[in-house]
Amino acid sequence: MIRVGVIGYGYWGPNIVRNLHGLDSTRVEMICDKSPAALARARKAHPGTRTSNDPAELLCSPEIDAIAVITPVWTHYELAKKALENGKHVFIEKPFTSTSAQAEELIELAARKKLIIMVDHTFLFTGAVQKIRELTEKGTLGDLYYYDSLRVNLGLFQHDVSVIWDLAPHDLSIMDHIIKSEPEAIVATGEKHLNGVEDVAFLTVYFPRNVIAHINVNWLSPVKIRTTLIGGQKKMLVWNDLVADEKIRVYDKGVQIASGEGIRELLVSYRTGDMWAPQVEQLEALHVELNYFADCIMNNKVPFNDGHAGLRVLRMLEAAETSIRKRGELVRL
Ligand SMILES: NC(=O)c1ccc[n+]([C@@H]2O[C@H](COP(=O)([O-])OP(=O)(O)OC[C@H]3O[C@@H](n4cnc5c(N)ncnc54)[C@H](O)[C@@H]3O)[C@@H](O)[C@H]2O)c1
Repeated sequence: MIRVGVIGYGYWGPNIVRNLHGLDSTRVEMICDKSPAALARARKAHPGTRTSNDPAELLCSPEIDAIAVITPVWTHYELAKKALENGKHVFIEKPFTSTSAQAEELIELAARKKLIIMVDHTFLFTGAVQKIRELTEKGTLGDLYYYDSLRVNLGLFQHDVSVIWDLAPHDLSIMDHIIKSEPEAIVATGEKHLNGVEDVAFLTVYFPRNVIAHINVNWLSPVKIRTTLIGGQKKMLVWNDLVADEKIRVYDKGVQIASGEGIRELLVSYRTGDMWAPQVEQLEALHVELNYFADCIMNNKVPFNDGHAGLRVLRMLEAAETSIRKRGELVRL
């Protein structure tokens, strides 16, 4: 049984606490938040669980094995560092830290102390992303051509980070998980309209072997859209995360080009075959992920969404920021 202290009970924290409560392998030992209103909500929802407004109480407690850091990004580094220094494993929200230098320091500290860092890249534990990874690993899609994602809605405006740091980590972590090669360069454009941080942004990421990814993130969209297109040489798929059934549709469509007789003659043939919707697991992603966190601690496994995975995402975020500042200049990674 892994005893967890959860710091941060705002918007996302209650989901972490609820899922930890639902697992046999974990117990929520204490919930901490600086806000009295958040603590009152926690006490109402979980009357049997201890609460505190002082993170040090959890970070120093001998009755706690792991700390879940569910606070705003700028607080991640300090809280995670203290947790690791006190011998606690860390489950930490995305994006991992505010800078890649902070992430590198935490990774080194965790390795020295033989502790686990798991970065909450929740989407990797959804049935949809697991199915997409299976389809790419089995070669069903063939060589990948592109990943194109639309992740837009109205808000939720964050105070400390731009829409890129808020929403793009989802796609960047998914790309890292399924494309499985290091990106080469990034071009990003975006604009600030309301509170001094970008609220609309477009990222293009270049991978080896002509694989290209595009992400559109937007807090100023009148409608919520979560649609990703993934094109491969053999098959193409559309993932609509907002529908209950047939979240993923795989199309047997493609294009083949052969040279004709003359130099300028191209023979283009289009293939339009069947469409099918593979079965997608419906379990709650956080349930699967937190169970995996406990399993990694108990069985001394290195999670695939470890500090290094969090760092790879941070490097892409930092490159995107540099590119935006230079109005879309190509930034090599
Ligand atoms: N994985 C996901 O899909 C997902 C979804 C939403 C948010 N998040 C991440 O979760 C984190 C929190 O986001 P949120 O939307 O819940 O933010 P939020 O502002 O709603 O909640 C954060 C809470 O942390 C508390 N807090 C801040 N600093 C603290 C400290 N030093 N000690 C104790 N409590 C402190 C605040 O009082 C607040 O209640 C962010 O990193 C965000 O990116 C992840």
